[in-house]
Amino acid sequence: MASDHPSTPPPGAAADWTVPQDWASYTPADHATWDTLFARQVDMLRDRAAPEFLAGVDILRLSRPGIPDFAELSERLHRATGWEVVAVPGLVPDAVFFEHLANRRFVAGRFIRRPDQLDYLSEPDVFHDVFGHVPLLADPVFADYMQAYGEGGLRAQGFDALTNLARLYWYTVEFGLVRTTQGLRIYGAGIVSSRGESVFALDDPSPNRLGFDLARLLRTDYHIDTYQQSYFVIDSFADLLDQTRNTDFAPLYAQVAGLPALAPDAVLPHDRVWHRGTQAYARQPSLA
Ligand code: PHE
Ligand code: FE
Repeated sequence: MASDHPSTPPPGAAADWTVPQDWASYTPADHATWDTLFARQVDMLRDRAAPEFLAGVDILRLSRPGIPDFAELSERLHRATGWEVVAVPGLVPDAVFFEHLANRRFVAGRFIRRPDQLDYLSEPDVFHDVFGHVPLLADPVFADYMQAYGEGGLRAQGFDALTNLARLYWYTVEFGLVRTTQGLRIYGAGIVSSRGESVFALDDPSPNRLGFDLARLLRTDYHIDTYQQSYFVIDSFADLLDQTRNTDFAPLYAQVAGLPALAPDAVLPHDRVWHRGTQAYARQPSLA
């Protein structure tokens, strides 16, 4: 993920903000944390995640024990789609993030969460970044989408539209659902890497599940620190790629710049409603 903090790389990082993963420095406890997280997600995701995600887990051999070595992971990934995984110290500036994506490099945090943070942490660690994001990069269509997104990010900077474009990333790459012949499936990295949200996103009556609508998403606010109030359902990765890569966003940015943002729980008259959420979860007094 990106953020717009000051823009010189920290000591020890290269000009493009990458650092060595230093795989040898992980402790047995670090690897054990990965294994615990992997084991509990992979069983649950068998009939919840998009088939392309599960195929990626196999192609990349992520079921082997321990935190993956990025060099080896990149070799497999490169063979599949020409992408690589590179380590960064933490959040990187937007332009750096987009530039890597546009060149088919996925930036991943190298640190792993502490054992008391298995269910939640606020910064992306190697489990979120690698288990959550990298399997789909082994899918040729999604791989092209991520590259196109990077190029779109570099372009959006010129239109002062990063807030809008970030919403697209959030509701697809991080929290997207996809329609399949078996019903709705998860593909968003923020969901697949979270035990609680993997159930909530598909099964809980609280959140809205609405059809993907590009111009609408560019206006839709989101929560970064609790489960989403709305999830958006794409018809297929091919359709997502087609609608984004082949649409000039400049007129869309101009159009939405004049409109108010939409609340995370909004349901509009023209939304395709898969499920109208009760929002019971968001309205719990304990969260207020
Ligand atoms: N087609 C978009 C544009 O004109 C670029 C883009 C592609 C953005 C895919 C997001 C995802 O800016
Ligand atoms: Fe992420």
